[in-house]
Amino acid sequence: MQKMQNTVIFSLFHDKYLNQLTLGENCQKGQLAIHEFPDKEMVIKIKTEISEKHVIFYDSLENPNDKIVALLFAAKTARELGAKKITLFAPYLAYMRQDKQFEAGQGITSKYFAEWISSAFDELITIDPHLHRWKTLQDIYTIPTTHFHAASSIARWSVEHIQNPVFIGPDQESEQWVCEIAGLADAPYIVLKKNRLGDKTVTIDLPDIHRYQSKSPVLVDDIVSSGVTMLKTIELLGHQHPKSPICIAVHGIFSDSCYSQLKQSGAKNIITCDTIPHSSNQIFLIEDILNKISAE
Ligand code: R5P
Repeated sequence: MQKMQNTVIFSLFHDKYLNQLTLGENCQKGQLAIHEFPDKEMVIKIKTEISEKHVIFYDSLENPNDKIVALLFAAKTARELGAKKITLFAPYLAYMRQDKQFEAGQGITSKYFAEWISSAFDELITIDPHLHRWKTLQDIYTIPTTHFHAASSIARWSVEHIQNPVFIGPDQESEQWVCEIAGLADAPYIVLKKNRLGDKTVTIDLPDIHRYQSKSPVLVDDIVSSGVTMLKTIELLGHQHPKSPICIAVHGIFSDSCYSQLKQSGAKNIITCDTIPHSSNQIFLIEDILNKISAE
């Protein structure tokens, strides 16, 4: 007899990637359609039976403004159709960097975004959210939240692929990742000082790193967005270190031409986790996490 499937997973924006994953027998891939009317309004149609089931929407939130309305409508639709529990699994969680009023008159958008998600979903699961001034997701989310960490997978990948690494965090915020990865990989690390002057302008202080000349430099950051943080660090390292760095990011957003700029920058390799599907993905977390959360 076929086992009853209690969990249905949908993806509005990463359906192609979801179809490549092997999911456990408790879990069914759901079918839905997004219809856009000529006036750009939309309607979501859930085609899979979800009454009394745990529904998971798996969608990473890079380009969040293009996605949030559809996701909120999808969650509301699932609720109306009798879903028992509605989880948002957003491996990359957007808006977390807007965690204070940087200039007078600005809104703190991480809070507003959290209010929307908390109003529509029963639970949020993510991977390495950018927790800096907010210390936990519960500071702004009113639904239960869980976050998984990429550090052990990045450390494992590094041990398997890099000989004699020195890990480099480009700014103070990256210390939490770099320190843990270096510890797990039993390697040294340094953390640089960054000052952001604008969306695409940063200054970075690189200390004297001549004592690491024999090591392979590995830049680690949680997010690559415009790429300026990585690009500036690669440029500075080039003045001091004979080896091209490997760049590793948890979340590769790669806005505009950032990825091609990085490829031309002198970096040896650009590696990301599969939190956002991309050709640079070499560290795979999503299948395991989806199987874990759908088995609960
Ligand atoms: C910020 O503190 C983050 O950890 C990243 O360093 C930052 O988001 C990278 O952004 P970008 O690629 O635009 O420099």
